Order: sequence, then C-alpha cells, then structure tokens
Amino acid sequence: MNSRFFAIAGTAVALLSAACTQNAPVPATPVGGGPVANATLPAGVGGATGGGPATPERGKALVTEKGCVACHIIKDVPGAVGTIGPALDGVGDPAKRAKIADNRMDNTPANMRRWLQNPPAIKPGTQMPNLGLAAGELDSLVAFLSTLK
Ligand code: HEC
Repeated sequence: MNSRFFAIAGTAVALLSAACTQNAPVPATPVGGGPVANATLPAGVGGATGGGPATPERGKALVTEKGCVACHIIKDVPGAVGTIGPALDGVGDPAKRAKIADNRMDNTPANMRRWLQNPPAIKPGTQMPNLGLAAGELDSLVAFLSTLK
C-alpha cells in the first residue's frame, strides 16, 4: 500500500522588483576625452567599432573627443591650441607638407593612418601616444585631416 502524499512544494518565486529599475549612470556626453561607447553615437555614424561610414565630420568631432586638441593647433576646431605636436593646418596637402611624423614618412593618407594607429611604432619615443583608435575612427580622422589644406 502506497500512501499518497500530496507534497506541495512551495513554489519559489523570484520576485523581481519592478520598482527597482535604476539605470546605471551614463556619461552625458562623450566630448572631453575618454573611451566613447558605441551606443552614444548616432545610428549610422562610424564609431568605436569601425562600422558605418567614415566622414570628415566625424573625424573633426574625434579630434576633440580623443584629445588631439591638447597637442595640436587645428584651424576651425575650437580649443585645438596644443603646441606639443606640430600644427596640423596644411597636413592634408602634400605640396605644403611633403613628409610627416618627423620626416619619417611621405605625406599620404595611408601613411597618415599608419601614424595615427601607432605613433611610437613609427617613431620610438614620440610624445604622441597610441590612442587605441578603432578602424572607423582612423578612417574618419584621415578623412578630416585630408581636408586641412
Ligand atoms: C600628447 C600629445 C599628442 C597627442 C594627444 C596627439 N598628438 Fe599628434 N603629434 C604629437 C607630436 C609630438 C607629433 C610630432 C611627431 C614627433 O616628432 O614625435 C605629432 C604628429 C602628428 C601628426 C603628423 C604631423 C606631421 O607633420 O608630422 C599628425 C597627423 C597627428 N599628430 C595627428 C594627431 C591626431 C589626429 C591626434 C588625436 C587622435 C593626435 N595627433 C594626438 C603629439 C600628440
């Protein structure tokens, strides 16, 4: 004879408090340096992952976001008053500036990209750091720098 036990297991209910939906603090604006989360970029804009189109406009924003302005004078970029590196006006015109990176490279878009990607690899000891730029950021920066005639 089997006794029948109707063991009713108490159903463990994980109570998710709907009232507790506090969001993690998100930096209000990416401007001013520091890593830029891709989510902070408008859709379709080439961002930290390198996706989306590279544009000179994006590159112009990046020179402030990435802190280039601290070391370079750049015409038409407010706050770009740094003098640690050379002024970048004319860097987009090989006729005006035949060589870049302390005369180590011909002034071409491809070389510009290589330089931005890892300056110390081109010139050991340079004060320009490797800023860890993503592919799309490099493309946008080169596009912008090429407009500096
Ligand atoms: C901490 C200072 C510093 C920062 C930040 C910096 N640079 Fe530079 N940059 C330099 C220095 C110094 C040189 C000159 C190379 C050398 O002689 O070491 C240079 C060279 C360059 C050159 C080559 C110009 C030439 O005529 O040789 C380009 C282009 C450039 N930087 C763009 C950028 C961009 C774009 C950023 C931001 C993504 C940036 N730099 C951030 C210091 C800096």
